[in-house]
Amino acid sequence: MPSASPCALVIFGASGDLAKRKLIPAIYEMAREKLLPDSFVLVGYARSPLTDQQYRQECREAVQKFARTQPIDPEIWNRIEKNIGYVQGDYGSNDGHDRLCAYLDKADREKGTAGDRLYYLSTPPNTFEPIIRNLGEHHKKQPRDGKGWTRIIIEKPFGRDLASARSLNALLHEYFAEEQVFRIDHYLGKETVQNLMVMRFANSIFEPLWSYKYIDHVQITVSETLGVGTRGGYYAQSGALRDMVQNHMFQLMALVAMEPPAALDAVSIRDEKVKVFKSIRPMRADHADQFAIRGQYGPGQAGDVKTGGYLKEKDVPPDSKTETFAALRLFIDNWRWSGMPFYLRTGKFLTEKLSEIVVRFRSPPLALFQKQCDAPVYPNDLIIRVQPDEGMSWRLNAKVPGGQMTVKSVALDFFYKTAFNIEPPEAYERLIYDAMLGDQTLFIRGDEAEAAWSVIDPIEQGWIASQRTPEPYAPGSWGPKRAMDLIEMDGRRWFQGNNGDAEPIVACSL
Ligand code: BG6
Repeated sequence: MPSASPCALVIFGASGDLAKRKLIPAIYEMAREKLLPDSFVLVGYARSPLTDQQYRQECREAVQKFARTQPIDPEIWNRIEKNIGYVQGDYGSNDGHDRLCAYLDKADREKGTAGDRLYYLSTPPNTFEPIIRNLGEHHKKQPRDGKGWTRIIIEKPFGRDLASARSLNALLHEYFAEEQVFRIDHYLGKETVQNLMVMRFANSIFEPLWSYKYIDHVQITVSETLGVGTRGGYYAQSGALRDMVQNHMFQLMALVAMEPPAALDAVSIRDEKVKVFKSIRPMRADHADQFAIRGQYGPGQAGDVKTGGYLKEKDVPPDSKTETFAALRLFIDNWRWSGMPFYLRTGKFLTEKLSEIVVRFRSPPLALFQKQCDAPVYPNDLIIRVQPDEGMSWRLNAKVPGGQMTVKSVALDFFYKTAFNIEPPEAYERLIYDAMLGDQTLFIRGDEAEAAWSVIDPIEQGWIASQRTPEPYAPGSWGPKRAMDLIEMDGRRWFQGNNGDAEPIVACSL
């Protein structure tokens, strides 16, 4: 891939967790892969008083600790390091932004960054408005005669409901064109997620089967083994539905469900995803508790990690009703998916760390082998493993060699690691690179974020109206019992990851 053109990257929230764990290491990996331009400047902006030298040291430590490839190559890092700077300021401070502009102008003159600026808002949502206004005003004051581009990457959460997402979009559009706004969802930068489109649209075997006619249902699971950690304050205002479902899980669902786009460009692909969100059947408020299940982890232990329960986490109000687990049954009311359920579940402190999509096909119309057997012959599954062990697996039925007619569910596996013998890049590497190139395909469009919120809002409202508290669940389990009931009442079962579904060996005497 060609390296990006000269530019400056400004990270607001320069010393934050995301910057240290993901963004700075991603810059290092991009340099290693020769994707960074020769003229590149990284500027950290935050409130703490730091010198350039101190910030460089912070960045070095972050890369040493979190970079994907270890140990780091000192030569590559030294090249990046001398182009790292720091500007101290409040996020709403005019003076701070003046200093930032002066810093960037100097970089244009001395480092050849050509007036191209990528601003990354890796800060809490209450800082978005002052930063955007300041950037917008300074941008207006300094139009740079059409020279150089300005782009803004915004981290989630993009609003907390439809109304706030609309206001944020309106604020951005006061100053910037939609082509300049990059709403990030790091799931879209994951290899397997991108591979979903390749799998569906570069192979002819899936399309004829890809509808309610041959698929029984789709399950999407994103489970985590840790709790809310140090993010209790943010999480108490958010919960699993806003934190994971509105964005990451809906993106996975949209890529599974969307129609083939007219072309592989940002407009065509995002048009199709918006149609999916607009077709999701709105949840009736009085159905929310039945078809959108909430859970909250109680005290206990998962693996080596002990917890006093969600209500004992730092910065969490002791009477919080915030859900740390959510499971939903949704329908997409269009020609392809009419009447076929999508089951989604996500939660903290569950049995294993796993993101996967299971497409369960219908059973053959005539259960020929079933007639001779007591145990069930399993239907076919296509399992798309987003993480860990990125890859795909087909579950098919095969005859076990021998005189008896014995049917066993077997797996045809494709793993990234073995097929390509390379470690897939981190999502942020791909996404920052795309933003530098101005490619919005893997970013969320404004109307797309709003369409996704309009599915979430009625559920949140239904939950508030019901006044029910989330059902407690034990850390290390698969969540509350009602999440099992949600799918079992339809005569189906959750696919239980690696620890999995029993694979029945069915002995039949013909
Ligand atoms: C973030 C959520 O967007 O995604 C976190 O805010 C969550 O709560 C994280 O832990 C999960 O990301 P990944 O890539 O580890 O699945």
